[in-house]
Parts: sequence; structure tokens; C-alpha cells
Amino acid sequence: MCDLIVWNDSFSVNFGPIDEQHKGLVVMTNELLMACGEGGSTTDHAFMKAVRGAVEYARTHFYTEEKYMKEVNYPDLPAHKKEHENFIAQVLNSIKSFEAGGTEPLALACFLKNWILNHIAVSDMKYAPYLSGIGAGAEKKGAQGGADLFAFE
Ligand SMILES: [Fe+2]
Repeated sequence: MCDLIVWNDSFSVNFGPIDEQHKGLVVMTNELLMACGEGGSTTDHAFMKAVRGAVEYARTHFYTEEKYMKEVNYPDLPAHKKEHENFIAQVLNSIKSFEAGGTEPLALACFLKNWILNHIAVSDMKYAPYLSGIGAGAEKKGAQGGADLFAFE
């Protein structure tokens, strides 16, 4: 069973711009999971379009994360970047397999969900303390739409 993701404060890296993008990933993943429940199939172009949209969003998000990690000289940036690259490669393989009829929509959506949640909870949390120094300036930028979840004090 692959339930929808419900955002909660434990996912927060206490850095507005990144949290906002993580919420965007959660929304897109939930849309994919819901599309599966509504009969997503290997011939469903709308489902594939949604998957590709999620991958593009993830790419943009990874770029943003890496930019901030570089800015604060995060020591594990190379390993973190590798995780992002491996994820994109895995998803692209899954998409190929999906298009060839070898991967079920739900399996693909669940893979995205599990990877994202695990990555945020484990890998992203490791860089969170490094971003706290620039958190005050970023709070305003990330505040548009959902500032109630952020606690910088
Ligand atoms: Fe990341």
C-alpha cells in the first residue's frame, strides 16, 4: 500500500526556499499516486506527462539544493550530488521500463514517494544545520505561501 504523503514539520529543513520546493515535490508525488488510483496504465500519456513533470521539477530542485550547499561549503556535497544523479538515472530507467510495459504505474509512483521521503529525512537533514546561517535572509523569500511551518527562532 502506498498512501499519500501528508506534510508535517518533521520534513522541514528549517530553510524556507528548500521547504517550499520539498512541498512542491510532495504535491506532485501525491498527484501521481492519485492518478494511479484513478486507473493509471502503461498507455496513460497523462500519467507519463506527470512523471516527466515531476522529474523536471526534481532536477530544478536538486540544482537549487546544490547551489545552497555550495554557498555554505557543505562538506558532503559531492556524495549528496551523487545521490541526486543516481535518482535521476533510476527514474529515467523506470520510465523506459514503464514505457515498455515492465513497470506498473503504482510501482513507479511508490518508488518516487519512498525515495523522496527517505532522501529528505536522511540526506537533506544532514545539510540543514549548515543552512541555518543563511536562514534568516531566506525566510522572507520562502515565506510566500506556507510561512506558518517555518520556525527560525
Ligand atoms: Fe537532496
